[in-house]
Amino acid sequence: MDRIEMTHNDQQQLSPQIAESIRREAMAGLVMAAQLPESGLSDADHAQTRARVLGVSSASDGRPQVRVDSTGLSLDQKLVVERTLLRHFGNQELSDVAIYFQRSSSARAGESAPAPVKKKHPLGLNLETKPIAGVKAIIAVASGKGGVGKSTVSTNLAAGLARVGLKTGLMDCDVYGPSSPLMLGVSGSMPVEKSKLVPLEGHGVKVVSFGFLTDVKSPVIWRGPMVAKAIEQLCYDVAWGELDVLVLDLPPGTGDVQMTLAEKLPLTGSVIVTTPQDVALIDAHKAVSMFEKMNVPVLGVVENMSHYTCTACGHEEHIFGSESFAGFLTSRKLGLITSIPLSRNIRELSDQGQPVVLDDTSKSSHPYRQLADFVKTAISQTLRVDTNLEKQL
Ligand SMILES: Nc1ncnc2c1ncn2[C@@H]1O[C@H](COP(=O)(O)OP(=O)(O)O)[C@@H](O)[C@H]1O
Ligand SMILES: [Mg+2]
Repeated sequence: MDRIEMTHNDQQQLSPQIAESIRREAMAGLVMAAQLPESGLSDADHAQTRARVLGVSSASDGRPQVRVDSTGLSLDQKLVVERTLLRHFGNQELSDVAIYFQRSSSARAGESAPAPVKKKHPLGLNLETKPIAGVKAIIAVASGKGGVGKSTVSTNLAAGLARVGLKTGLMDCDVYGPSSPLMLGVSGSMPVEKSKLVPLEGHGVKVVSFGFLTDVKSPVIWRGPMVAKAIEQLCYDVAWGELDVLVLDLPPGTGDVQMTLAEKLPLTGSVIVTTPQDVALIDAHKAVSMFEKMNVPVLGVVENMSHYTCTACGHEEHIFGSESFAGFLTSRKLGLITSIPLSRNIRELSDQGQPVVLDDTSKSSHPYRQLADFVKTAISQTLRVDTNLEKQL
């Protein structure tokens, strides 16, 4: 490899040749970092890894500075990437290069190397995503915090959409705690046909899950790159057939899996599930911010476990409080889709693999039906606008 000679003067006025050499070495360094599972970079897709080099410019102190896209990387992962890059630069006699992490969405235009441009859809959808063949709309169900009822909501939403005649799929993306298949009464492993995974079916919903890829009773010990690969498989290597809507049951939090899916898939919108208590709302704020950054429309909020009505005396108790919830909706300019009370009926039917939304005799089915109607309307409006837009383009 050619040695790159860098004089003080070069550093002051970065020549295009030196900038290009640094850019190439940065890409090589990132590919090396991707071989370390703890880097959080995908070793499977080198082109994507290389695309994280957003550009090379002069820092304010005159040193050359490589700008690296840190989207989806944790602080620890950034440290691993930085260490590997610095070591690689050192080996190439480029010890004076600074590394600057930034999110690709906040990359400034007009600098030495072009950042990948995200085309903005007028509805805020991300057009650089990769669609799933045959799937018309994708709705992500998310919460910041675990245990707030996200899988119960996802399962009932999917079953509720199938109930009103939509061809529906459910993708359980929770790597470490897959539970929506059990709530749909489905278990087993997915058959493979023509090198595609065949979803299992429960209550008219086609469902795929990490639970079908692993032993449900053993802890999952997969590291980042394995998870990313499996997520990709669950999206694209599945014989979904024609689907009007695919519901994603996202894992709790705003980590790598959520970001990868929000970036890769053309999400029609997201639904946030939260209990009305402060500790859940703090995390719900983070989930809303993540979707805003990813240009995914947040369709609204489901308040779960809003209150409990005592079956003996009829007293209504707001177990998780109610004061902060209205403030959350106002501050994020979001609408309430429905409130679901805490109910033994919901919990029991969930455990039996019977989504309560399908129970005509139960009052507990009402909020889930309201949610399914809301999502159905949101999807049909988006698809209608999309079709008009396509005609105009
Ligand atoms: N409204 C509700 N009333 C009673 N139990 C509920 C309700 N929503 C969820 N649950 C129960 O709470 C537990 C956690 O719900 P789950 O949907 O698995 O949460 P998450 O996916 O957010 O971790 C489950 O046992 C579920 O049956
Ligand atoms: Mg869950």
